[in-house]
Amino acid sequence: MNKHNPLSKSGSLLERAAQVYDYVPVAGHQSVHSSAPEILPPEQGYQQVVPAAPRAPVYEGPRVIVDREKLRDAGFIVPDGPVTGISEEFRIIKRQLLLAARGNQKQAPLQHGERILICSAHPDEGKTFCALNLALSIAAEKDNEVLLVDADFAKPSILSSLGLEGSRGLMDALADPDLPVEDCIIHTDIEGLTILPAGDQTNHDTEYLASSRTEQVLNRLTQHNPNRIVIFDSPPALSASPASVLATHVGQVLMIVKADETTETALRDALSLMAGCEHIQLLLNGTKFSPTGRRFGSYYGYGE
Ligand SMILES: Nc1ncnc2c1ncn2[C@@H]1O[C@H](COP(=O)(O)OP(=O)(O)OP(=O)(O)O)[C@@H](O)[C@H]1O
Ligand SMILES: [Mg+2]
Repeated sequence: MNKHNPLSKSGSLLERAAQVYDYVPVAGHQSVHSSAPEILPPEQGYQQVVPAAPRAPVYEGPRVIVDREKLRDAGFIVPDGPVTGISEEFRIIKRQLLLAARGNQKQAPLQHGERILICSAHPDEGKTFCALNLALSIAAEKDNEVLLVDADFAKPSILSSLGLEGSRGLMDALADPDLPVEDCIIHTDIEGLTILPAGDQTNHDTEYLASSRTEQVLNRLTQHNPNRIVIFDSPPALSASPASVLATHVGQVLMIVKADETTETALRDALSLMAGCEHIQLLLNGTKFSPTGRRFGSYYGYGE
């Protein structure tokens, strides 16, 4: 890996991340270059995918209202809002992930490719930012719905980012066999977007995740919703053990690298902890965050 390579200003943030870090297969991983679907321009993406299964019956229960202003202020994609640099970037990113999840005439879908873990080596590298934006972007798809799971059990932040109140979540359903995980899902007023909170904190989150019940619980998330993409907002790989266990349950990992901060060593260590998943892609996140000038990938010229 050479972090100091001159950077091409073209290509998506996925392509540029692979270039910056000269991403090659690590033992136990498949390279995004060799086995992943080619990075397709948006118009060649999901349209080719085999027809999706019908949506689950329309949910008629209560829906919580997502605070759009809060979304806008924090730099997230606003549903039905204007097209922005961020919304365009996530369009490209989601095509690649959806293609791997659903497959097309040329390639089979990945096993559990509909489960996508958003991870990074350290805190503050943009996992939650990317997980939520990806979820908002996928929710806008006609043929897909998305369940965003807050899997950062020690420091959950999805609910607060959406301006929502805390409630039962994944850890409660894992800990209590009598609690159906579906009952913990929050339906939002954003069409296609549902949320599964982290649930109660426990000192045994890794043990619960590693238990045999986890797979059953996760299967329930999609068994009646074949069009559902499940995005997990992970804790940082190098500071919390649940991340590597979560990787064993998903079909895709999106590893966020913070352009001018994530070191090669940290990235390699984080990737080796994700060895439980064979399909890992890097996503380059921007560096120059400021309350007024937030732009995704702006350091490398995106949107200029
Ligand atoms: N591309 C970006 N553009 C603008 N702001 C960003 C971007 N990426 C991250 N941020 C902001 O940086 C801060 C840290 O990001 P975020 O909370 O997503 O990190 P994290 O990796 O989830 O951290 P933690 O491991 O502590 O949960 C947040 O305020 C977020 O809104
Ligand atoms: Mg986070």
